[in-house]
Amino acid sequence: MPDSVAVDVVAFEEAAIALASRRRPVCAYVYDLAHLRRHARLTRTSLPPRTRLLYAVKANAEPAVLRTLASVVDGFEVASAGEMEKVRAVSATARVAFGGPGKTEAELARALDLGVEVVHVESVNELLRLEEAARRAFRPIDALLRVNVADGLPAATLTMGGPTQFGIDEAQLPEAVDAARRCGALTLRGFHLHLVSNQLDASAHARLVGRYVDRAMSWAEEHGVALSIMNAGGGFGVAYAQPVRLFDIRLFGAQLHEELARRPASAGLTLVFESGRFLVASAGAYLAEVLDLKINHGRHFAVVRGGTHHFRLPASWGHSHPFRVVPTGDSGRCQAEISDCLVTVVGQLCTPKDVLARNVPVRRLRIGDVLVFHHAGAYGWSISHHDFLSHPHPEVVLLDEDRVSGSAGTSASRLGLGGPARRAAGS
Ligand SMILES: Cc1ncc(COP(=O)(O)O)c(C=O)c1O
Repeated sequence: MPDSVAVDVVAFEEAAIALASRRRPVCAYVYDLAHLRRHARLTRTSLPPRTRLLYAVKANAEPAVLRTLASVVDGFEVASAGEMEKVRAVSATARVAFGGPGKTEAELARALDLGVEVVHVESVNELLRLEEAARRAFRPIDALLRVNVADGLPAATLTMGGPTQFGIDEAQLPEAVDAARRCGALTLRGFHLHLVSNQLDASAHARLVGRYVDRAMSWAEEHGVALSIMNAGGGFGVAYAQPVRLFDIRLFGAQLHEELARRPASAGLTLVFESGRFLVASAGAYLAEVLDLKINHGRHFAVVRGGTHHFRLPASWGHSHPFRVVPTGDSGRCQAEISDCLVTVVGQLCTPKDVLARNVPVRRLRIGDVLVFHHAGAYGWSISHHDFLSHPHPEVVLLDEDRVSGSAGTSASRLGLGGPARRAAGS
């Protein structure tokens, strides 16, 4: 089995060329569904037995992404009624777990209507609200307590434990378990811990999950919970620097296997992961055409069609997102060009924070060239403030296996712009 599934850089660049030949200026999200399918399969098969892989919809709720993943992952983690509806639009039967803070009565009722399997409860108040909703709907429901522990956090880009709004303070577990015990309509199956985001060290993560299992088993024993599920959250990471480095999922799977083997008492436990970033980042690219080039106070700027209102990830993480230049510049329309310099790539918004990449060396850049930002499939469009300044939204272009040849590779002809392999956003 290969260690990873390579991103088909050429397919994204061919998409840029094909789009540029059709309509200017280019501004699109391109998703390679064939890559997504293969990468998700590799992820799923890398995990040891007695595990489940859910997809955290918050990373990217594009219907084609959900449809593609529905046949590979074991279910979906949603954080709102809107995400539930999106999942149900592509699968009537997929397993759904409902997490996230501040669940309303209406959302809990909708979760019961839509056949959500388990709710990750964030507070004792929420537990009581869920019990009430389940009684009203005459539907029993499973619950996990999301626990907020204050210690044992590894280094990662974001951490969710300690004094944050997430989960139930570990010190309040006795009260929460007691409240769950008095609820007749819900069954407490175990615990949920999502403590890190963008973890890059596979061995450290396997050890961390081993520690989660220890903690869950000791809470179960201490508080008398019949533990059957432990949800270890998301967090498999993507290092966006160039070259991009992905979490080593095969190493993680192998080391987790060993961690679990060292804990025979965990044999009855199903371990659940709800991964977002790692599953979809590499399947997406954001394409933005250079509209203008200028030098202000000695610095070169490239202004692109689009910006952080489409792709907020670089601004939110404060990084320069890697990109490649596709030379589609139309010298007939405009001759402007820069070469061998550092360029800052900005969007069309009226804020100096609208920066996608800062001081990046370029060999040559022309107005009309298309910049392809790779690894843009997760927390790109989904976290962006789309309507700020009311610019048009980017197109969504879908690449998939070549239906004609059935080959796994991608090709420009496969793009079939105007044909079945692409569609415009919102259509
Ligand atoms: C509760 C929960 N689960 C899963 C995820 C997905 O995390 P990731 O995209 O890092 O895998 C998140 C992300 O914020 C989350 O809050």
